[in-house]
Amino acid sequence: MIYEDILQKLSSESRLRVIPETSDGIDLVTNDYMGLGARYREFSEEFHRRFGDTPMSASASRLLQRSQKQHAMLESYLDSLYGKRTLLFNSGYHANTGALSALSAPGVLIVSDKLSHASMIDGIRLGQGESARFRHNDMESLRRILKQKAPLYRQIVIATESVFSMDGDMAPLHELVELKKEFPGTLLYVDEAHAFGVFGDKGLGLSEELGLLKEIDILVGTFGKAAAGSGAFIASSELMRDYLLNSARSFIFSTALPPSAIAWNLLMTEHLTEMKEERIYLRELSRWMRSEIEAITGVVSNSRSQILPVHAGSAERAIFIADSLRKSGYDVLPIRRPTVAAGSERIRLSLSASLNREKLKPLLAALKNVIKSENFTGVQDSTGV
Ligand SMILES: Cc1ncc(COP(=O)(O)O)c(C=O)c1O
Repeated sequence: MIYEDILQKLSSESRLRVIPETSDGIDLVTNDYMGLGARYREFSEEFHRRFGDTPMSASASRLLQRSQKQHAMLESYLDSLYGKRTLLFNSGYHANTGALSALSAPGVLIVSDKLSHASMIDGIRLGQGESARFRHNDMESLRRILKQKAPLYRQIVIATESVFSMDGDMAPLHELVELKKEFPGTLLYVDEAHAFGVFGDKGLGLSEELGLLKEIDILVGTFGKAAAGSGAFIASSELMRDYLLNSARSFIFSTALPPSAIAWNLLMTEHLTEMKEERIYLRELSRWMRSEIEAITGVVSNSRSQILPVHAGSAERAIFIADSLRKSGYDVLPIRRPTVAAGSERIRLSLSASLNREKLKPLLAALKNVIKSENFTGVQDSTGV
């Protein structure tokens, strides 16, 4: 059977995915960046007091849902934080596939960063418009595309992540905003999945941190990472919200998230806005860890966030390093093709505000050992592809 052949090929290339066993190692793998997920018991009393009688199912798509209470509460809270109009989606994957496929109407060109997340790529592929990709974070490459193609389309949308999920580096948002202005009418779409809760005074993301909230036309935030919940939202204009509500198929044709999950998102987001000190702490910890990793591997990292790649150069080596680190008590996993390009396989360390230097030092010692024992020579950061 063809599917068996495909599985065998994946296996022979060390690319077969399996669901990992439950682990009690130190978590460096999930996206619980602020450590809120691990603290869920602390919030259970507050949750039950405020939202104890909240239904466990929406029982319908948002457009058919009988009670909008919790969904409306969360949207209006997000509206006030962002100064925009927000629309909830069932996940970041739903948000990107739904919104980008809807935006990609005939006559539209979506120009996206080459390292954009799979959900963005899938959304663009589903659309009826056309698309182009610019070299990762390369504004000259983007400008060339815009110069050449902008006159040929009715609408241009530039799409990027703010903090990139696999390299932890950041999009040059200021430059993107400037470039957008050179081509009037262009919309800027920014996925803040890995920045929501982690950057900005209130944790609204890199756009807030850089004072660019007003300049970003369509902003995606997800609750499944720093906010320790589930689902996502898109913050945009009233008109864009109306458009997405009428045309994003993942919004229209899927049962809404349970009101109880939405209430939890609200509670977690309220707490997140107060976690400024933790954000500063996580930034410091990440900076320290990055320089320690650079000293061990000899590879300069482009990361400027809590996501720290340790490049392995091949799937086999990534598996070998991850296995050794797991034996030292850390929960880490290899990242392979197609999630990252061939040759840029890595371990993706995901730091959290619940960690500290003492907890991380044994990992660094283990990394040093495994790299020495394997005669590891680093490869350059995988940006650009
Ligand atoms: C940049 C980015 N956008 C969107 C998503 C999808 O979000 P969700 O997990 O809520 O579907 C992810 C990863 O999970 C991501 O890394």
